[in-house]
Amino acid sequence: MRNFIIMGPPGSGKDTQIEALLESHNLTMISSGDIARKLASENNLYKEIIAKGELLDDKVIIKEVEKEISQIEPALGIIFDGFPRTVIQAEKLNEILVNNGRTLDAAVYIHVEEEEIVKRLSSRLVCPICKRNLDPHNNICPECNVEGIRRSDDEPVTVINRIQTFLDKTMPLVSYYKDRGILYEINGEQSVENVTKDILERLDFESKV
Ligand code: AP5
Ligand code: MG
Repeated sequence: MRNFIIMGPPGSGKDTQIEALLESHNLTMISSGDIARKLASENNLYKEIIAKGELLDDKVIIKEVEKEISQIEPALGIIFDGFPRTVIQAEKLNEILVNNGRTLDAAVYIHVEEEEIVKRLSSRLVCPICKRNLDPHNNICPECNVEGIRRSDDEPVTVINRIQTFLDKTMPLVSYYKDRGILYEINGEQSVENVTKDILERLDFESKV
């Protein structure tokens, strides 16, 4: 079973693509963004860090990710959403996967330019209950039946900081995984369906999952 990372700047479509991949394959997901938001709901310091567009401490995130990995049944592959985001997290992930009898097969990097990111995140609405992205033309969550709201870190100034944090802390992972021969760069500025198609084709999904 395959284990892989989906990485990319804020708003590159990580969640959107993972939702499509989970539909048809024997996979589960670990999202460090969801972990961070859960931690922030119980801790004001973490809430402030997210609101500033910075990263939570490596150790805190790694501990939670490690816990989640150990609870996943071996038959399921894992897609990592937005984890790792630093070289320290990447090194630690390698160790944790080995300890759990897994290996990392691919790092998918969804490339989207800054102008497109700002456009997408300035109009994104999410469900305040289940947190899913909503269709901006029909701003009601189909599951929870409530109106969507702007995510707290989608304020324009925070988006700019999130992009900068990505460039400073996470971009080095593109070379890190390229050097290891498992980087797959995808053009994220296409329709959602075409991005999914590219990911499936590049990973030769049907024959290997
Ligand atoms: P996280 O929740 O992971 O946020 P992010 O990386 O900034 O990315 P987003 O979730 O905003 O965007 P996405 O790429 O998932 O795009 P989406 O599919 O939603 O992290 C939040 C925070 O938690 C971090 O800032 C940090 O503080 C903390 N954190 C997380 N991980 C951490 C870690 N490992 N270590 C330390 N701290 C961590 O799409 C966005 C919008 O675009 C949607 O409206 C969607 O409909 C639209 N869209 C998607 N695809 C397309 C397309 N192809 N064309 C047009 N529109 C599209
Ligand atoms: Mg996301």
